Amino acid sequence: MEIIDGKKISAQVKQEIADEVSRMANEGKKIPHLAAVLVGNDPASETYVASKVKACQAVGIKSSELRYSSDITEEQLLEVIDKLNADEDVDGFIVQLPLPKHISEENVLNRISPDKDVDGFHPCNVGRMVLGLPTFLPATPAGIVELLSRYNIETEGKHCVVVGRSNIVGTPMSVLMSRKAKHANCTVTMCHSRTQNLKEITLQADILIVAMGVPRFIKADMVKEGAVVVDVGIHRIPSDKTKSGWQLVGDVDFEHVAPKCAYITPVPGGVGPMTIVTLLKNTLLACSRKHA
Ligand code: GUN
Repeated sequence: MEIIDGKKISAQVKQEIADEVSRMANEGKKIPHLAAVLVGNDPASETYVASKVKACQAVGIKSSELRYSSDITEEQLLEVIDKLNADEDVDGFIVQLPLPKHISEENVLNRISPDKDVDGFHPCNVGRMVLGLPTFLPATPAGIVELLSRYNIETEGKHCVVVGRSNIVGTPMSVLMSRKAKHANCTVTMCHSRTQNLKEITLQADILIVAMGVPRFIKADMVKEGAVVVDVGIHRIPSDKTKSGWQLVGDVDFEHVAPKCAYITPVPGGVGPMTIVTLLKNTLLACSRKHA
């Protein structure tokens, strides 16, 4: 069993991005600029946005954080997006999700210019991804493809089972793994909360990608011997084994599943660090496209 080290791989990719940014600067080109919009004080969103800003700084990408209180109206937020769309210096931006209930995520995502949509959430970019056209790929699924490819994990012709159908992870993940591409070309089955024979299907998985949002749901008896397991879940749960009184776990019961696997991603330090790497790559792409 080999643990897929997302921290190590993300550090490698970040170094490659930093080299590219510094090459752009040396050639007198514009430095990429990512803006992140944060509405409200959701602690997880605060942490994610802070990590994104920090990662930008580490690779030399310019970043701006725009914070608004949770009582901002949808109309005001749409105005913020219009300004970012028009701002020549901003190459790409994200609006951190989830948004407060009174704001329609659909309206907000639709308003972001597809050329600056480095999250890849705009319907145009989702459509381009499905058609296999060049676009901004969504961060987590693209980060997972990158991890599998950097570990030279054979995917062609394999049965990939994706558990979860969210717009952010499960749905794009199933599309990317089924593409006619070197690090894809899988037969994909997507499972979700209404799947009746989940265990029967997960047991067939050569590659099992779990993004269902239930702590330690996938048990050892649901995984085939020699499978590759990718755990997208991240949950903070109480623990009597740590000094802090809590610990981070994924959607997979790592302790019991890992011994059966050929490869497995840990939580933390697996998929998480790769998500930010994709965002940095997309920002670089947005900048180079605009100034090509
Ligand atoms: N919330 C959880 N994941 C993401 C993400 O990748 N992008 C944005 N904008 N919000 C998120």
